Amino acid sequence: MKKNIILIGFMGIGKGTTARAYAEKYKCFNIDTDDLIESKTNKKVKSIFEDEGEKYFRSLEQECANWIESSVDNSLISCGGGFFNVNNLNKLGTVVLLDASYEWIYNRLSTAENAKSKLKKRPLFAEPKKAKKLYKEREKAYKKIADIIIDVERLEMKEIIKEIHKKVNKK
Ligand code: S3P
Repeated sequence: MKKNIILIGFMGIGKGTTARAYAEKYKCFNIDTDDLIESKTNKKVKSIFEDEGEKYFRSLEQECANWIESSVDNSLISCGGGFFNVNNLNKLGTVVLLDASYEWIYNRLSTAENAKSKLKKRPLFAEPKKAKKLYKEREKAYKKIADIIIDVERLEMKEIIKEIHKKVNKK
């Protein structure tokens, strides 16, 4: 079994921030699936959605998962919100879900210092009503695929990364 931590959860829940804090504290490499896709295609996720469409983006996520399966270990991998649908997720490492209510996530995103850019780079957040619908559709599937669930609403970042470390190492 691989020793990667696979961080999943809805857009805007703070996977990137959590991953950076975790990597700093526990001294591991941290890679992000959106960043991998952007570096492979030399395009922004938003432009891929606009030019080639969501289906193509999902195929890039699968390619990315295949590369992680064949080539990456002992790392923290933060995943785009829809990455959990790849067909080999549980082979990539221990799957950790960051969980919170839709309202909490929306509030976090819209009150962030750079709220505009945070919302703009996420094509599926362009319409909050649609985003909420997507959240409802994914809620159960996220929980089903996760090995570990962390409720981030009631925790400080320091506690979140400690919880992840503790629970992953107990597995
Ligand atoms: C998506 C989430 C985004 C990005 C793309 C699609 C999704 O990543 O991969 O816009 O389907 O939920 P973040 O979760 O980092 O925003």
